[in-house]
Amino acid sequence: MQLSIAVLPGDGIGPDIVKEAQSVLERVAEKFSHRIECQQYDAGGAAIDKLGEPLPEKTLAGCRASDSILLGAVGGPQWDHLSGSDRPERALLGLRGALELYANLRPAVLYEPLREACPLQADIAAGGIDIMVVRELTGGIYFGDRGRRQGRYGEEAYDTEAYGEAEVERIARTAFDIARKRKKHVTSVDKANVLESSRLWRSVVVAVAGEYPDVTLEHMYVDNAAMQLVRDPSQFDVLVTTNMFGDILSDEASMITGSIGMLPSASLGKERLGMYEPIHGSAPDIAGQDKANPIATILSAAMMLRYSFGLAAEADAVEAAVSEVLQAGYRTGDIASAGTTLVGTRKMGQLICEAL
Ligand code: IPM
Ligand code: MG
Repeated sequence: MQLSIAVLPGDGIGPDIVKEAQSVLERVAEKFSHRIECQQYDAGGAAIDKLGEPLPEKTLAGCRASDSILLGAVGGPQWDHLSGSDRPERALLGLRGALELYANLRPAVLYEPLREACPLQADIAAGGIDIMVVRELTGGIYFGDRGRRQGRYGEEAYDTEAYGEAEVERIARTAFDIARKRKKHVTSVDKANVLESSRLWRSVVVAVAGEYPDVTLEHMYVDNAAMQLVRDPSQFDVLVTTNMFGDILSDEASMITGSIGMLPSASLGKERLGMYEPIHGSAPDIAGQDKANPIATILSAAMMLRYSFGLAAEADAVEAAVSEVLQAGYRTGDIASAGTTLVGTRKMGQLICEAL
């Protein structure tokens, strides 16, 4: 199979981790006889410095022309003074919006060898953690009307949370379809006791649930969900929620599995074209120091193989290689614990390639 991939390393640790994920993809291509073609593009702060804008037309066009996108991370303190539409984050939001990648899948799994890195008490973690966070990615407050105006307390700024029926319907369908292949349990997270947009969200999710009688649906307020995630994470199977709630809850879900450096993501739309990236940020403090954990990005590459290319055996092989290396006791700093072997970004990538 011919796999054409647009690679957007971005900022901070982005280039460090993307390099390792690319090596893993090359190793997979070699092992399973695929042809892989990676084309690199500028995005985020790197693109601002070089070309004056976070998402240059060439990058967007290159992404559209590819079968799949691998992204590192964007952002850093040197671009913090820029206004909203000029910031590095625009690259990410622009790509998600322009390519209508509305379904963001963020699997939070507690790997057996990483139990030591799990910050929850052993009896709480004992039930295991295997949650698929399905985050709506192209609507809600991230993309709603915003602005400045004069208000009662002086200058006022506002951002709007709005959801349309068809928008909720398609993400609910994504969640139920995924649940069917898992434990058949969907928890829809909202704030329907306060927000009108959440009340619509809930009614649409209930309507979609009617088509999935074999899947159990539960509703949970977002504040309770944040609490339940650390009280008893084993109660969750598929968790579906809005753009902003999903942003927050997926960070929490990742941390209880040991480290935010472990959690991959897939952003999918109607077409086969998907974007794959770790859920963590650009960690500028450790950029270029061979310290970052490349596993979230490597597991994102595995999701690419599975979801964009339908290569399940290849994806399984990458995931198994990651497990094997963890089982053998190798750890980057973020997941290290007593008795394990500390390695850097490059070595972790190499070990995973060798396991493959
Ligand atoms: C994420 C990130 C982004 C988001 C930022 C960098 C814009 O936190 O992918 O979770 O909020 O979506
Ligand atoms: Mg986030």
